[in-house]
Amino acid sequence: MAEYQTHEHEVLVIGAGGAGLRAAIEASALGAKVAVVCKSLLGKAHTVMAEGGIAAALANVDDRDNWKVHFADTMRGGQYLNNPRMAQLHAQEAPARVRELEAWGALFDRTPDGRILQRNFGGHKYPRLAHVGDRTGLEMIRTLQDHGIHRGIDFFMECTVLRLLKDGGRIAGAFAYDRERGFFHLFRAPAIVLATGGAGRAYQITSNSWEYTGDGLALAYEAGATLMDMEFVQFHPTGMVWPPSVRGILVTEGVRGEGGILLNKDGRRFLFDDIPENYRAQTADNEEEGWRYTQGDKNARRPPELLTRDHVARCIVREIREGRGSPHGGVFLDISWIKRKLPNAAEYIKRKLPSMYHQFKQLADIDITAEPMEVGPTTHYMMGGVRVNAETQMSDVPGLFAAGECAAGLHGANRLGGNSLSDLLVFGKRAGEYAARFAQQSRPATPDPEEVEAVARQALAPFESYSGDNPYQVQRELQEVMQNWVGIVRREEELHRALEALGRLKERAKRASVTGNREYNPGWHTALDLHSLLVVSEAIARSAIERKESRGAHFRDDYPSQDPAFGRVNVVVRKGADGTMQVTREPLPPMPAELQQIIEEMK
Ligand code: FUM
Repeated sequence: MAEYQTHEHEVLVIGAGGAGLRAAIEASALGAKVAVVCKSLLGKAHTVMAEGGIAAALANVDDRDNWKVHFADTMRGGQYLNNPRMAQLHAQEAPARVRELEAWGALFDRTPDGRILQRNFGGHKYPRLAHVGDRTGLEMIRTLQDHGIHRGIDFFMECTVLRLLKDGGRIAGAFAYDRERGFFHLFRAPAIVLATGGAGRAYQITSNSWEYTGDGLALAYEAGATLMDMEFVQFHPTGMVWPPSVRGILVTEGVRGEGGILLNKDGRRFLFDDIPENYRAQTADNEEEGWRYTQGDKNARRPPELLTRDHVARCIVREIREGRGSPHGGVFLDISWIKRKLPNAAEYIKRKLPSMYHQFKQLADIDITAEPMEVGPTTHYMMGGVRVNAETQMSDVPGLFAAGECAAGLHGANRLGGNSLSDLLVFGKRAGEYAARFAQQSRPATPDPEEVEAVARQALAPFESYSGDNPYQVQRELQEVMQNWVGIVRREEELHRALEALGRLKERAKRASVTGNREYNPGWHTALDLHSLLVVSEAIARSAIERKESRGAHFRDDYPSQDPAFGRVNVVVRKGADGTMQVTREPLPPMPAELQQIIEEMK
């Protein structure tokens, strides 16, 4: 019999980034007994990698902004695959969530008349990103932690959930282990909020740190929930490329929002060559106008560097592939050029982008006020995730909620920068609220003790295996497969090759063996992470095969255009009764007439 500690709560939140913390705060404010479980130390979340700001139509810098423009921008950025109701709620509620964060102590940058300052970002028509220099996500986490810590929420740090447990069809709890000592924990709770972020660690080059192995997605899938839009993986256009030890670390879009330009090795601003038709009217075709836009000229058009991320990332890949890249396999991002426009440029850059200044100085010995950075795409975010109800964030499994990056729907085929921080505030709050209500109206639910025993046995299996299959090696090979064959540019044949390779890795992962004991054993942790990584990678590859067109972040070399047949469908993934992964297409929720009208007007 496995030994474990049992904990009783009404709402269990898995993940302590922005969405998890906001959900926990809301649930506890409604009187629910709440626990938060996180894989790492509190405060260490991918939320901090959303550096440039929170998108919210506060209209502090440009009074033409309002929720309708934000809604239309989000839908266009997502190539209209977004859940329209989620996009509406998000645009309507984001300003209140930002003001609430300010009331809880977040110290935003200010306009000269003392309001929250907002900056430009790709795909947003007006300056919309409320920010704290280039450390906005960090400030958000700090504020939510400070606010939440006094609410009597129980926190379990360095604890990984292995399985969601059900009673009949509904959620009854979760089984987890503590990463320091290897002890098991049984959490009994009728409502669970998944807020585990994405799965950037399925790729070699990523802005995500080690925690992001797609745990929430795999837990939901195994529990019978539906995953959706898994083919849409966001490759942020600008990650560091040099030196190799820092490859993938994010270079905020805020650099481009403050005037940074992208250049190839010939010094050419290559984005001028390729402005998509649907953005042509809004995009400047000359340096002078783009610069005026970044400086707040309302009559100027935006520079092409502020086109959407999917487009900018693909143009960068083209320059690199065609031999016009920088020495270390990227392109140049230059903010130092603004010294031609501003007498105090160095001071301006250090004030607006303090983290970027220090990041490049310390990690690459580059002074960004004087020389260009080398950058290239880095796996940053998953638009896909658990399919949820727009109002409540509940999945298809009663009692299972999801919010933030691990939920799907808001962003469609491509997320606009800054919409992640607003997403996790708006839908974190909603998930917490509806999870608390669900729990308070539920009968007690009891996990199946046999299932608990089986999960514990499975978790300890790597200690009993003598196959010699090294979990680190399996993880490394998986990352190579995903990077090379399921990356920014995809082809049918390579996607099939990836699936076959993933099948072989799945077999090796089952036999993975580790030495030592349960205390402080990173090899064991890696072996346990493989299951989630494999489920998520397979879902991405299968969905990418299913969508035989190019749209948003999903680009198929063999189907380079959009196909109207895919314009109104989501690719969904479920676990079949025989245990295999089933992929189908399902129609998008209908677009209400009043929302369609907003889109038409904004066009
Ligand atoms: O570039 C950035 O600061 C990232 C923001 C985001 O992903 O929302």
